[in-house]
Amino acid sequence: MATLDQKPLRVALAGLGTVGIGAYKILMQNASVLEERTGRQIVVTAISARNQSKDRGVDLAQCAWEDNPVNLASRDDVDVIIEAMGGENDPAYTLVKTALENKKHVVTANKALLAYHGVELAEIAERNNVSLCYEAAVAGGIPIIKMIREGLGANRISGLYGIMNGTCNYILTTMERTGEDFAKVLKDAQELGYAEADPTLDIGGGDSGHKLVLLSALAYGCLPDFKNLSVEGIDHLEAEDIEIAAEFGCRIKLIGQATKLEDGRVLQMVAPSLVPKTSPLAHVDGVLNGIFVQGDFVGSSFVEGRGAGEGPTASAIIADVMEIAKGHCAPVFGVPSGKLEKAPTATAQDWRGEFYVRLVVEDRPGVIADIAPILRDHTISIESLIQRGRSEKEPVNIVIMTHDAKGEDIRAACAGIADLPCVLGKPLLMPVLKI
Ligand SMILES: NC(=O)c1ccc[n+]([C@@H]2O[C@H](COP(=O)([O-])OP(=O)(O)OC[C@H]3O[C@@H](n4cnc5c(N)ncnc54)[C@H](OP(=O)(O)O)[C@@H]3O)[C@@H](O)[C@H]2O)c1
Repeated sequence: MATLDQKPLRVALAGLGTVGIGAYKILMQNASVLEERTGRQIVVTAISARNQSKDRGVDLAQCAWEDNPVNLASRDDVDVIIEAMGGENDPAYTLVKTALENKKHVVTANKALLAYHGVELAEIAERNNVSLCYEAAVAGGIPIIKMIREGLGANRISGLYGIMNGTCNYILTTMERTGEDFAKVLKDAQELGYAEADPTLDIGGGDSGHKLVLLSALAYGCLPDFKNLSVEGIDHLEAEDIEIAAEFGCRIKLIGQATKLEDGRVLQMVAPSLVPKTSPLAHVDGVLNGIFVQGDFVGSSFVEGRGAGEGPTASAIIADVMEIAKGHCAPVFGVPSGKLEKAPTATAQDWRGEFYVRLVVEDRPGVIADIAPILRDHTISIESLIQRGRSEKEPVNIVIMTHDAKGEDIRAACAGIADLPCVLGKPLLMPVLKI
């Protein structure tokens, strides 16, 4: 236990938006709790954002102001930088790099920065014996980083499946509840503030992918590299997919999964997936996040909670600051960065299991007879098939549930099917999870 006569820990805040101000509020409102638990005072000495004169609803008068956030990294009155600006490039990148080089600890909520520059920054942190913490970067208030790195640290992890984007989960849950289509639900979500004006990173799966690479590195010791990922989003889903999935006893969720294959490779993919209603992940609703982890001794563990927003994200940031105040310093990705595995990782092509395939086809006899040989030639066998008419003379949806198949075979079959004159548009393909 640390003693109460230690010097205060001096914190600088780069970014005073949702996350930065949330962190400031906890430091002010819970100052006595934090001091009791860490044995030290934690004080904010300096701040930076774009607009100094903006009213942020809190009194920041006692903090020194820097126009350029990178200057925080060179201040003598700063021990820890909280980077809460966002973006994979500057100024966040130069600020974090300079701070670590100057032997200052860094706490960040910035998954994009770490997904692209994590290894380089981890090496600098290790060389300078300082912490680079990012609990807030994955699943907001859920302590998933500490859970994998410390709590489950004795296990070999075999599977990790997460709902890690609240915007997508809100859209999918609302589509299920209202029966409305994707475009309408997205528009409503934007009006309610649950989706960004430019939602590409969320609905395209990129945001979940940034988080998944960080968890994969922690769980499997593989190099965190966004380029290793297969990423698909939810923008091509229809309300009917959700209805049909329900008939098969499943819900559709955007799942980031990282699993260990028999050949030792780590498969990393983000894709809308069918999840059995019996799985705890199927019941993660609205903006919540949930993560399911399988370890060889612990078995299955599941955590659920708020993955974003001021309070939960700031709670994770300050938990990291408290670890630093207590003098704890864990390797950024669980193992020294030089030991991260550089072996090739597997992608969606290597995923094996049942698939949901939706085809939009002309409503005329002989369509199934055209499709069946292509499936046969790629050794895909059908478990069941549903045909849904819309109205007369309009195209119809055909949904095929396959038996176990390999990703590359079903994708090759879908490419062949897409070329048939009777098939309109690109087939929709989703894995069916058994968790
Ligand atoms: N919001 C969440 O729920 C959440 C959850 C998990 C992780 N995160 C991550 O947390 C980070 C911050 O998110 P946020 O929601 O707090 O963003 P935000 O509300 O948009 O705040 C961003 C802050 O950074 C400042 N900033 C931006 N560019 C800057 C620059 N070039 N120089 C100086 N200051 C700059 C802005 O200054 P002004 O205020 O003066 O414009 C603002 O104060 C991002 O990496 C995000 O991915 C957010």
